[in-house]
Amino acid sequence: MSQRTLVLLKPDAVRRGLIGELIGRIEHKAGWTISALELRTLERPVLEQHYAEHVGRPFYEPLMEFMSAGPSVAMVVEGERVIEGVRALAGPTDPIAAPAGTIRGDYGTITRENLIHASDSAESAEREIKIFFPGLA
Ligand code: TYD
Ligand code: MG
Repeated sequence: MSQRTLVLLKPDAVRRGLIGELIGRIEHKAGWTISALELRTLERPVLEQHYAEHVGRPFYEPLMEFMSAGPSVAMVVEGERVIEGVRALAGPTDPIAAPAGTIRGDYGTITRENLIHASDSAESAEREIKIFFPGLA
């Protein structure tokens, strides 16, 4: 089933010069296409909507600081089973627990600075796409 998902390359990925590498990993999956893309520094109101489910968790404030500290790449990626697929490419939230071959496993050490966000369900994807690309149908 063709789906779409919201992907963020987080400020650590942009700062470390990994945009090309990470987009490459996504693009090289046959049949997935990038249908929207923007480089931008995410502001607090946008991040508050995006991470609403985590308000009040101990990591919330440091996460907001990290995510707003520099530019991110926001993208919509479309294709067959892409929601589950980009989550699998990203790997588990904690990079130390993430296997080699996943983005977080290959490039991360700190849970907060885990390089990439990908929507976790069809409902999350539609909600998140509206936050970052409100003009998209
Ligand atoms: P979460 O939605 O649980 O993870 P994922 O990005 O894999 O869907 O958490 C959102 C982000 O919050 C996560 O990518 C990194 C940060 N985070 C922390 O900094 N510490 C934590 O203990 C957790 C669970 C998340
Ligand atoms: Mg999540």
